[in-house]
Amino acid sequence: MSLRISDIEGSSDRQTYLSLVVPTYNERPNIQTLVERISKLLDPVLEGFYELIVVDDDSPDRTWELAQALCNDYPQLTVIRRQQERGLSTAVIRGWQAAAGQILGVIDSDLQHPPEILLQMLTALKGGADLVVASRHIEGGGVSDWGFIRRFLSRGAQLLGLIILPNAIGRVSDPMSGYFMVRRDAVIGRDLDPIGYKILIEVLGRCQIDRIAEIGYVFQERQEGASKVTWKQYVEYIQHLIRLRSRGRLEKLKQRFEVPIKRFVRFGLVGLSGVFVDMAIFYLLHDPAALGLPLTRSKVVAAEVAIVNNFLWNDLWTFRDISSQQRGWSKRIKRFIKFNLVCLLGLFLNVLIVNVLVNYFNLHYLIANLIAIAIVTVWNFWINLKLSWRVTQTK
Ligand code: GDD
Ligand code: MN
Repeated sequence: MSLRISDIEGSSDRQTYLSLVVPTYNERPNIQTLVERISKLLDPVLEGFYELIVVDDDSPDRTWELAQALCNDYPQLTVIRRQQERGLSTAVIRGWQAAAGQILGVIDSDLQHPPEILLQMLTALKGGADLVVASRHIEGGGVSDWGFIRRFLSRGAQLLGLIILPNAIGRVSDPMSGYFMVRRDAVIGRDLDPIGYKILIEVLGRCQIDRIAEIGYVFQERQEGASKVTWKQYVEYIQHLIRLRSRGRLEKLKQRFEVPIKRFVRFGLVGLSGVFVDMAIFYLLHDPAALGLPLTRSKVVAAEVAIVNNFLWNDLWTFRDISSQQRGWSKRIKRFIKFNLVCLLGLFLNVLIVNVLVNYFNLHYLIANLIAIAIVTVWNFWINLKLSWRVTQTK
């Protein structure tokens, strides 16, 4: 089951600055203290401008019920009870989908994430960060009294992430953190589709994040309730990394082979106009009723005029966006020379294909010509796109 965030609306309600999501599963002993502590901290600076969204997955200990009861005393609190789904990451997304704030955040509900640094995190966002991550691995950060095995597993997971997804994971010192805030703008319209526990790597992997800030914190020991982590979360973590990695590859592949349909249609129309130009000039030069010049000479001139015609239309219309970035006649002439060479090569290819289809495949010469024209049009378009109008495009 996946949840997408593409339906997050483009704008917040303007009133709400921060929406902090609190995922809970069997956190009855902790939820009240947490809401109390956060409210005490945020009320003085943000009263009326923030919301807390508890997303509970129908906890057997009825955390949702207790949270709902708290809503009377805390108007900034809302509670979502999910009955069909389970999972930390998707719970966070569910909360964000309901959020109205310009800033979307998340904090664990078991008090292992100290609320005290929330203010520092907000300051970092004010300073221009798109994402602020509470980190155990920078100055001011740490874990209370973790044994060797736990540290090893945590760091091992991070290392694995660095290997599988270096660009995203390498951007923060604590990619395993589940305590962070992100600008809504960076998330809007992105398809988030995480599995497992680590929503932050999803954000790093799929959102438009330019500036990142980190705030150190000490991961507190759990006083009440129990962790929900089992071996399953480790497996899901690896699956999640692989999914993000293959998505990155797919995007790149798509980008490389994406056919610019609109351009291609224009290119085709321009080509068609070239046929008429060629015909007309050919007639004018060769027809006894007109100039009556020799056949080959007439055809060569007609073809060249058609090429000039096509170039001009393509430069002014099909690839206008690209050529307008590289003005000047010398540059235009450079593009023209490339275009001309590609077209000549295309002509050669055309003759070759017709020959092969007629002589080896016994096709009718007109059908062979049609096929050759289709292939050469694609060739002409593609090579010209990548060669003649490309230099400026990469700029
Ligand atoms: N709604 C919902 N659904 N909440 C869940 C679920 C679920 O399926 N599973 C866990 N939670 C909630 C818990 O109630 C808790 O508030 C929070 O998510 C974290 O769960 P824990 O089970 O306490 O996880 P942890 O402390 O081992 O794991 C934490 O590791 C990181 C540091 O390495 C992660 O949760 C990170 O947030 C944390 O920073
Ligand atoms: Mn915890």
